[in-house]
Amino acid sequence: MGVEKGFWNKLSVPTVGMAPMDGVTDAACRWIAKRHGQADVVYTEFVSAEGLWRINKRQEFDHKIWKELRFSKEESPVVVQLFGSDPKSFYDATMIVGKMGFDGIDINMGCPSPGLEKSGGGAGLIRVPECAGNVVAEVRRAVGDLGLNLPVSVKTRIGSSVPEPDWWDFLASLELPVVAMHGRTFKQLYSGEADWEVLSEAARVIRKSGALFLANGDVKGVKIDGREWKAKLNSGKEVSGEPFDGVLVGRNVVGNPWVLRKDGLVPNLKQRLEVAVEQARAYEKLFPGDKFFPVRKHLAGFVSGVENAGELRRKLVMTNSADEVEKVVKELNIL
Ligand SMILES: Cc1cc2nc3c(=O)[nH]c(=O)nc-3n(C[C@H](O)[C@H](O)[C@H](O)COP(=O)(O)O)c2cc1C
Repeated sequence: MGVEKGFWNKLSVPTVGMAPMDGVTDAACRWIAKRHGQADVVYTEFVSAEGLWRINKRQEFDHKIWKELRFSKEESPVVVQLFGSDPKSFYDATMIVGKMGFDGIDINMGCPSPGLEKSGGGAGLIRVPECAGNVVAEVRRAVGDLGLNLPVSVKTRIGSSVPEPDWWDFLASLELPVVAMHGRTFKQLYSGEADWEVLSEAARVIRKSGALFLANGDVKGVKIDGREWKAKLNSGKEVSGEPFDGVLVGRNVVGNPWVLRKDGLVPNLKQRLEVAVEQARAYEKLFPGDKFFPVRKHLAGFVSGVENAGELRRKLVMTNSADEVEKVVKELNIL
């Protein structure tokens, strides 16, 4: 049986996706990333495989995990990301999320949270490839038992304490449709710069297996020039896209979905604020009755880099509803 690539095969190159971010990439954020950033693909926040099957078994239908799994077809293609270390839990979790209509399932092998890493989940799976392989096998088995053809992908880092070519070889042996890789080791957490030299070495190994390779870390956009493309990095460097199939953008998307676009559109302040209000409204619609504060970090992002916006930013991060956001914005007399 060939590798199930599903929707991944239909995406254009460079593929520009929004990286999963816990506490950030909720359904409203993803909808905006699609609508204004034209994201090729979006991921859910990571969801605990073990937590999911447990709350399902206990019928805790008001648990916050269900909120993290809410999505609309307009975000499509949307990939659900699971984390954990126990292959059996991944099987049970896949039996639940597999039926929910996601376009793919991704396994987190890169989260640097020390507790999770220590217990063998997230980036901890890099240290125990045998377990990582069993996790992939169990997710695939569940997908098969559900009679589905969902692609099962992996998002990881370049290594645990140093870049690890053995890890890349191992990933290549798994016949994955896609590997997304953050150019830092577990040990680096988020310090220093993502190493794009190492990412290109890893991409060469992994793409030989037929997998697509999405590079990640410090990307603030892509630049397309005829048939060639480059990734623009925070450092100001522009890296040739040639060794990769695309990129995932994380932190730079917060309040700035336009970084995902390939047409170079840069919005003016009025457009940014209109979309800030739109995201706040979408959040309230998707999560009625929920606390508003998760929206605030996005609101700050929408005015980041804007000159003399200190006062505006201070007001935005104190808001408690979409109506309040709109009121603050209207006071500026630019909408
Ligand atoms: C607040 C936050 C939450 C994150 N949550 C996740 C997650 O749930 N799953 C995951 O694979 N990576 C997660 N990441 C890592 C990002 O997906 C990405 O790999 C990392 O931020 C580097 O990309 P960037 O420089 O574009 O932000 C998270 C990162 C941040 C900053």
